[in-house]
Amino acid sequence: MLLLQRCSRLTRLCSINSYRHPVTPALAPCAAHFSSDTHRGSEFRWSRRWTQAVAGLLAGTGAVLVYALNQHKAEKADAITGQPVDNLSPSSPSSSSSLPIFSQEEVSRHRSLQDGVWVTFKGGVYDITEFVAMHPGGNKIMLAAGGAVEPFWALYAVHNQEHVLEILSEYKVGELRAEDQKKQQSLNQSDPFSSDPERHPVLRINNLKPFNAEPPPEILTESYVTPNLFFFKRNHLPVPRVDPKTYKLQIEIPGPTGERGGGLSLSLDELKNKFPKHTVTATIQCAGNRRSDMHKVKNVKGLNWGIGAIGNATWSGAKLRDVLLAAGYTSDDANWARHVQFEGLDQDVGGTTYGASIPLRKAVSEDGDCLLAYEMNGEELPLDHGFPIRVIVPGTVGARNVKWLGKIIISDVESSSHWQQNDYKGFSPCTDWDTVDYKTAPAIQELPIQSAITVPADGATVDRSDEEVTLKGYAWSGGGREVVRVDVSIDGGKTWKIAQLKSSDKPQDDVVTTAPPGQAWAWKLWELTVPLPADTEEMEVVCKAVDSSYNMQPDSILPIWNLRGVLSNAWHRVKVKIQEEEEEDDDE
Ligand code: MTE
Repeated sequence: MLLLQRCSRLTRLCSINSYRHPVTPALAPCAAHFSSDTHRGSEFRWSRRWTQAVAGLLAGTGAVLVYALNQHKAEKADAITGQPVDNLSPSSPSSSSSLPIFSQEEVSRHRSLQDGVWVTFKGGVYDITEFVAMHPGGNKIMLAAGGAVEPFWALYAVHNQEHVLEILSEYKVGELRAEDQKKQQSLNQSDPFSSDPERHPVLRINNLKPFNAEPPPEILTESYVTPNLFFFKRNHLPVPRVDPKTYKLQIEIPGPTGERGGGLSLSLDELKNKFPKHTVTATIQCAGNRRSDMHKVKNVKGLNWGIGAIGNATWSGAKLRDVLLAAGYTSDDANWARHVQFEGLDQDVGGTTYGASIPLRKAVSEDGDCLLAYEMNGEELPLDHGFPIRVIVPGTVGARNVKWLGKIIISDVESSSHWQQNDYKGFSPCTDWDTVDYKTAPAIQELPIQSAITVPADGATVDRSDEEVTLKGYAWSGGGREVVRVDVSIDGGKTWKIAQLKSSDKPQDDVVTTAPPGQAWAWKLWELTVPLPADTEEMEVVCKAVDSSYNMQPDSILPIWNLRGVLSNAWHRVKVKIQEEEEEDDDE
């Protein structure tokens, strides 16, 4: 009977939006029941690969649960908008509840698929054994088994949505004993983000916990170097508080069979004083910059970044190459090693740290200019940007510029981290969540050519009496490829003009080529003043950039659309209204 009830609940979950999930040993009987009676044919296709891909994708980004639940709710809510848990109304215990009361000890006994997986939430007890197999965050859900989900949901704030609670309520089996509830409440009060730093209120917040925010576009082009306070912040986890006095950076070069051992451990003082200080001006751009443009064309999963997930800063620190050489790296290591892995000190509740890797060649090359940075724009590295040390990998996607750096490993393989293996990869527009296989695509490293219009803003109005308008924006390309030209149109792309490029805030520095070939790490700001067109009340401003390899931006988004909304670099367009002058009043 219980099996039948469970199967019917699963049938409901599975049939909505063709939700597909894998068979686990624990659920095999249900699966057999479905395939013989309820769901025949292709509609009910168990796709382990699909779930693994989505699980991996969502686990690390904190989007655990939501994908499945979005499916369940027929795409009703966007994963990035949600109310805090506290504002929601879970099925909290009531004195009239007829459900059995369980002690915490009884709940704790249910920590496995064999014994059942139970969790508690706001005083309710839930048997989520069936849901475990469907959890897009994969096994991470097991971290909460036998205990409260609140600490995990506090970390992955994306759970804070009404429909998540709705699903949870389907699994309710009882109430938690009052005295155990009290104990839990005091434990749950600890917020993993409570030590996050204060941020400037001008930042537009895409997600509060973990903190993800970008500056308003017009601020981006106010200065060539983006002030630290306004630099976009992209955190996957709580900001770790690192004590600079006890901080140690570990460097490991294990050798082809791990025989070498040893490695090097450096304090912050040693990093600052034993190695020459280098300064590099480099732009960092998130792979998801301009995702909102892609989202407008067709739904994508991810934070809805505007054009501000990019910034340009002057970074100072030790050269990564110098530190690797000091740790014993020699050119012979290039015979076995291919990658340099980085581990951050920020971690999730299970102790998993942020990680990424870059090609060894980039890390050890003289002109790769990779830094172990301790300063940003002449100031101590801010907490949000990786204090005390972050790696700066110029020309490379933001995701590889690991903050709060704890460990560096020279290796024959890429980082095994979720963010290297199952996220930050590009796919064809025809790849969807059923067919995506993260193993088939390389991790994004160098980014493609990009540009955007920062002034005027989309939807702005200019006065006809001004007669002309000044358009502004940024342009940048990955891999050290210099931006050589920005074309701007005010008629939707029919005719073009060439914008003036700037590599500094000094007016006399217009149109300068500052970097040696292949080392153009910093963006160019661009500007163009044009007369207001006489024959229209609306201008469509468009920009597109060209880099030193003559790479150009694609004209539209559809052909580059991908399910995660990364690498969004089509021509940028804004619409601007021209306000006509008031007619003279003839009566006067
Ligand atoms: N490093 C750690 N340790 N943890 C992170 O969450 N986010 C990465 C990267 N380095 C991240 C990290 C991503 S995705 C980006 S885009 C950049 O940091 C953002 O850097 P910023 O916050 O300094 O702008």
